[in-house]
Amino acid sequence: MGIHNNKPALVLLLLVLLGSAIRLNSAQDSTTLVPAIITFGDSASDVGNNDYIITLFKANYPPYGRDFVTHQPTGRFCNGKLVTDMTADALGFTTYPAAYLSPEASGKNLLIGTNFASAAAGYDDKTAILNHAIPLSKQMQYYKEYKTKLAKVAGSQKAESIIKDALYILSAGTADFLQNYYFNPYLNKISTPHQYSSYLVRIFTRFVKDLYGQGARRIGVTSLPPLGCLPAAKTMFGFHKSGCISKINRDAKQFNKKMNSTAIQLRKQLPGLKIVIFDVFQPMYDLVNSPSDHGFVVANQGCCGTGKGETTSLFCNPKLAGTCSNATEYVFWDGIHLSQAANQVLADTLIMQGIYLLG
Ligand SMILES: *[C@@H]1O[C@H](CO)[C@@H](O)[C@H](O)[C@H]1NC(C)=O
Ligand SMILES: *[C@@H]1O[C@H](CO)[C@@H](O)[C@H](O)[C@H]1NC(C)=O
Repeated sequence: MGIHNNKPALVLLLLVLLGSAIRLNSAQDSTTLVPAIITFGDSASDVGNNDYIITLFKANYPPYGRDFVTHQPTGRFCNGKLVTDMTADALGFTTYPAAYLSPEASGKNLLIGTNFASAAAGYDDKTAILNHAIPLSKQMQYYKEYKTKLAKVAGSQKAESIIKDALYILSAGTADFLQNYYFNPYLNKISTPHQYSSYLVRIFTRFVKDLYGQGARRIGVTSLPPLGCLPAAKTMFGFHKSGCISKINRDAKQFNKKMNSTAIQLRKQLPGLKIVIFDVFQPMYDLVNSPSDHGFVVANQGCCGTGKGETTSLFCNPKLAGTCSNATEYVFWDGIHLSQAANQVLADTLIMQGIYLLG
């Protein structure tokens, strides 16, 4: 899929900031700041894997994708580009790494990376199993399979350097809380949010160690967003109160704090590892609470499938309710996911937070 890079200024800025550290990568025709992008996680970065499995959590129907480059639904949970797409744009990519389960993830296309993310997956494999998504452990198995395929396409020496210099992105945790923990009376009973967070962070730690063992050195991980500000969470747990649900936001913050300190430990334990926890919480909280500062009009409900406020569904269901005419005015595209316009605001801050990974 050919795409236009509409962020030349940001690429230029990154080039200047990185100075001579830049390596020109010939994996594709243009110059990219990393040879490949390899992504794991949930619907924040799924680019179509769920199109190929049997699950309720799909985004392969209109109006998803209506403002995307192709104006077609792809499986992205957005009207347009995801933050990961915008990151690829900023790093100089002219095509996006393919969803691993799609037919495009083959041959030379594998040279620029691939994407294993699956909507409704989490750190906890049980979350994904519950939602019939691809568990993180299975995503890791696919990654190992990918490495074998990559070695066949690139030769083992080049494959090794792609694996080492690639940017790895991991987004997970939202579904563990919103689609598992808060709904599971058993889990609720045996563990507090604090304990469940620690459990998830232990899985995260193992995952990073495994990835490092496989050769990865540059890993960017998204923190939890302000879960209590998501329209779907407000509908499910907010009982029509206005504003964000502070209890749920506190749980998310606590999780993020643990992620931060774990990342610091991992850097000490694993020589040569660069890892960043992208702070998604604060920029998104600001967007929701001061939308007009960023040019947005609506922040309390999604553009799609929300209708009269009480019908906010997790994902966009145009049959249940309408879709707004101009998603650019909305912070949220559906009950959980940001609009492309809000993703752009988020991407601009996250890319700056991630510069350390590229040096
Ligand atoms: C995690 O670290 C980032 C960057 O240092 C910081 O902005 C953020 O507030 C921290 N998050 C928490 C919950 O401590
Ligand atoms: C959509 O809204 C944005 C932001 O308010 C505005 O700049 C743009 O012109 C609008 N587009 C259309 C087609 O109305």
